[in-house]
Amino acid sequence: MLKVDHASVYFEGRDGRAVQALDRVTLAIPDRSFVVALGASGCGKSTLLNAIAGFLPLSEGAITLDGRPITAPGADRGVVFQKDTLLPWKTVIDNVALGLKFAGLGRAERTDKAQELLQLVGLADFARSFPYELSGGMRQRVGIARALATDPDILLMDEPFGALDSLTREQMQELLVSIWHRTGKRIFFITHSIEEALFLGTQVIVMSPRPGRIVARFDLDFVHQFARDRDAGAVKTSLEFARLRADIRAIVHSSEDFRSAAE
Ligand SMILES: Nc1ncnc2c1ncn2[C@@H]1O[C@H](COP(=O)(O)OP(=O)(O)OP(=O)(O)O)[C@@H](O)[C@H]1O
Ligand SMILES: [Mg+2]
Repeated sequence: MLKVDHASVYFEGRDGRAVQALDRVTLAIPDRSFVVALGASGCGKSTLLNAIAGFLPLSEGAITLDGRPITAPGADRGVVFQKDTLLPWKTVIDNVALGLKFAGLGRAERTDKAQELLQLVGLADFARSFPYELSGGMRQRVGIARALATDPDILLMDEPFGALDSLTREQMQELLVSIWHRTGKRIFFITHSIEEALFLGTQVIVMSPRPGRIVARFDLDFVHQFARDRDAGAVKTSLEFARLRADIRAIVHSSEDFRSAAE
């Protein structure tokens, strides 16, 4: 279990005064879950993800993975960002294998494992290509393969499909559901898109504008439905999907009111 317990983060603003980015966020990310955080720009989503990744210390509260406190980055957490962070001078397969080199695996073993992961993301034929030869969606798939290379407990994804066109984005969502299903990895995923959150999440948390605070939580089944039937159209045009989309839209658009109503 990954647990975020009353996590708050303050940054020092330009004028030297503290800016609160995260306000007592409490969250559990159980094994095999797909937790999606949804909220407006600047509400603290990346701050939360970076704290879980160990890139950023909390000001208050705690984050633990299977009971152990998170204080630094580790191979037990794989991270995928909005913009790919591939090394342009290395081939696709060498980019994927990079973490395995640090983990001490030999060359043959690294290549086998990386090739297997490229197969998983549908890029087996592009192992020897360089990042500049790939499309944006393909580069993000390499990023996912690289994040999975060290066999992490959790994948942390910060708007990984935010820069893609809508068709590629839908294809990537479907690919990610297959990967989630096949690997059994838990995922913490950040997005601005209500539709993306509904389609992917077993749980969706909605955050208020800064300081980010959880104002609503939804347990969902659409991702299981899609994993079973592979019919995204049926999921996204269902009445239940439309109803929840409207509910969440109302919360996102009035979360200031919602916050005062909750207090
Ligand atoms: N290093 C920093 N120093 C000072 N303030 C920061 C720092 N990082 C983030 N902030 C502030 O904290 C708030 C939350 O930022 P964060 O990047 O977590 O938002 P976000 O929800 O990921 O936004 P977006 O959807 O645009 O990516 C913002 O108001 C931002 O200005
Ligand atoms: Mg962000």
